[in-house]
Amino acid sequence: MTSQVRGGQLARLLGQWHALPGRRRSPDYAALAAAVRGLLADGRLPLGVRLPAERELAEALRISRTTVTAAYRELRESGHLTSRRGAGSWTMLPGGHRVASSGLWTPQDDLDMIDLGIAALAAPPELIPATRAATEDLPRYLGSAGYHPTGIIELREAIARSYVERGLPTSPEQIMVTNGTQHALDLVLRLALAPASSVLVESPTYPNALAALAARRARIATHGLAVDAGWDADLLLASIRQSRPRLAYLIPDFQNPTGHLMPVELRERLVGTAHAAGTDLVIDESFVDLPLDGTPLPPPTATFDRHSRVVTIGGMSKPYWGGLRIGWVRASAPQVQRLAAARIGVDMASPVLDQLVAVHLLAEASTIVTARREQLARQRDALLAALADRLPQWRVAVPRGGVTLWVELDGPVSSALARAAEEVGVRLAPGPRFGLDGTLERFLRLPFTLPAADLVDAVHRIAAVRYDLDRAGRPQWREPSVIA
Ligand SMILES: Cc1ncc(COP(=O)(O)O)c(C=O)c1O
Repeated sequence: MTSQVRGGQLARLLGQWHALPGRRRSPDYAALAAAVRGLLADGRLPLGVRLPAERELAEALRISRTTVTAAYRELRESGHLTSRRGAGSWTMLPGGHRVASSGLWTPQDDLDMIDLGIAALAAPPELIPATRAATEDLPRYLGSAGYHPTGIIELREAIARSYVERGLPTSPEQIMVTNGTQHALDLVLRLALAPASSVLVESPTYPNALAALAARRARIATHGLAVDAGWDADLLLASIRQSRPRLAYLIPDFQNPTGHLMPVELRERLVGTAHAAGTDLVIDESFVDLPLDGTPLPPPTATFDRHSRVVTIGGMSKPYWGGLRIGWVRASAPQVQRLAAARIGVDMASPVLDQLVAVHLLAEASTIVTARREQLARQRDALLAALADRLPQWRVAVPRGGVTLWVELDGPVSSALARAAEEVGVRLAPGPRFGLDGTLERFLRLPFTLPAADLVDAVHRIAAVRYDLDRAGRPQWREPSVIA
């Protein structure tokens, strides 16, 4: 229990805390307590942090201290806060909760929940035969100690080949296998970032990348993506030129959560501008295998790299299976050696058997990935049709790849909606999880990775609670001061 959240920070996180279902019926203290519980449930407020003193929070929210006192009392009674007299109050969760794979806190008994917090598919049928074949290969490795800090050679060769097939010359020495893309990102950040370094990210962006950056104490600046158009080339390049961040983390290929695809001209200008500014680029290609509707892919961003400015990370979680935990870094051979050395102090190496499974899956790439794309296109279309039918007032750009819709809602109600949807068995990741400081309340990410019937069912339930939010009395919306 070391960290502390200040009054101003919590106020920013709470954002439109009045915007809760039943606001007209419930008193302020209950609305405040519910909003804090919501922040805890969706991971924006960590466990074990000290909340601001009552007076400080009352000042930050411009409400009476009695309201905060009552809200804290309610949070203590519901098991979300523990207090020591004179020392402060710390966040906690009542018993019976666990961390879901989305990073969100969930009750233990939520097996019937339709989980739209996770943007990943179930395993493909080819996984079992690939695992059997991998066990047959294993004896070849059993005569050695089995530690391969950059990964086993056959997997590095297969990954390098996939870049060559995309037109980017790559040798196996330029590849390091990791335990998932998130691990790749964490290792790259460990090596590249001194504490308090400046980093540019898209807004919205992938929340776990923000978590990895927070762990390195990065100072984060954002480039806002437009719902329809994605990156604003001139603005993005100008902000790199002017603020010269140490590093920029970007997802040019079917960006999570917006699904945008960065055009080739911007890729080229981005790499040139980053080099001139002394900015390293970390390019996350998690979704690059998942263009839909035959959308052609621009060349990899690293194609334009002449100065080892671009580190590319990718992995098998999205086209294959997250449970495999196979990712990688593509960088210069010396950078790979430095990363491997850093890894020795972290996890030493990836499991050999899992890497062999990956080799077998990659050998079947075209069959598996083609089926995934068809499945995703069908599910996306079912989700779009259900939204057009039940929630026509929401705006959504049809993504040409990836696994998510980024929906613009008809009001800044994303967190309130997520809390209400939980009550009817749908877990949502509200917009603010994809940005900084409680912005993006007008947005919601909806993945289309579940079967079509579940997606349609989920939309029906969400539409019902959206309607309830209105019936509960619509508060006077205050536009957020920052729109990302
Ligand atoms: C953009 C992005 N990067 C990284 C990851 C993490 O992937 P992995 O499961 O390979 O660690 C995800 C997963 O959702 C993602 O969307």
